[in-house]
Amino acid sequence: MSSNHCSTCRHFLTLQDLTVSELKYILVRAKELKALRNTGKPYESLRNRTLAMLFEKSSTRTRVSFEAGMTQLGGHALFLSSKDTQLGRGEPIEDSARVLSRMVDCIMIRTFEHQVLERFAAHSQVPVINGLTDWAHPCQLLADLQTWQEHQGNIQGRTALWVGDGNNVCNSYIYAACMLDFQLRVSCPKGYEPDANLLELASERCVIIRDPLEAASNVDLVVTDVWASMGQEAEQVARRKVFAEYQVNESVMAQANPNALFMHCLPAHRGEEVTAAVLDGPNSVVWDEAENRLHSQKALLEFLLCS
Ligand code: CP
Ligand code: NVA
Repeated sequence: MSSNHCSTCRHFLTLQDLTVSELKYILVRAKELKALRNTGKPYESLRNRTLAMLFEKSSTRTRVSFEAGMTQLGGHALFLSSKDTQLGRGEPIEDSARVLSRMVDCIMIRTFEHQVLERFAAHSQVPVINGLTDWAHPCQLLADLQTWQEHQGNIQGRTALWVGDGNNVCNSYIYAACMLDFQLRVSCPKGYEPDANLLELASERCVIIRDPLEAASNVDLVVTDVWASMGQEAEQVARRKVFAEYQVNESVMAQANPNALFMHCLPAHRGEEVTAAVLDGPNSVVWDEAENRLHSQKALLEFLLCS
């Protein structure tokens, strides 16, 4: 899957649209912006800037963190759903990109096919941010990496375990492992692996270990996500059977390091991909992770709009 750069602006379609040092800078800045917000002092680096947020799928965290983030930085965010815009009535994605990008300073899109995002970005005059596609969720990784560093310091050389579906978030974890030099184990049923090209590219950083108990041995971080992502609702019942052995429960966590973290991008289904005891337990940092969507995306917006 190729990344797109228009000649005049930077996009954030995958983590690899950043260099390693840019990614590290954004994570440092996210920490600073979090501390700054906790002082209560206003800080308006994006005064008078507008972010358009185009959603073709539901969202709580992505929508609220981008909107609150723009307000906190002195700017404005516009919520646009495909249902109530002309996009839902068939206006081509390229035309929508041309028009919106003449009016706003940045555009975030959540859509289905990654290629739709790439086509949009190719026709936009302003930075485009991937707010989740079927293939990648890089904004989630900014928050996850910030959270991991916050709780365990330097993550270079550490080990993360992904349990469950090799989905969009999992693909983004593979990029993150390559960029920040940590090991990633993926424990998934046959046929539900992450992107094959990515796995090949990351062969030194990422390994498939089918048995979740074996895979969890001595890991520093355990991550999972829903068994059926948005757009896969029709497969929900079948997937419950396929993934039954891939639940993050106390037995899995017992194999990990005692201070291992548990993360989940949310929304979670207690009793499916994760038990309530783990999600609400002492190793879980899911609420910090959700909050960090706000801080890390503010850092991303500043980076794309001000540098
Ligand atoms: N994690 C995440 O992207 O959540 P939302 O679907 O609520 O935006
Ligand atoms: N994999 C999930 C993530 C939701 C934030 C989905 O795509 O629905």
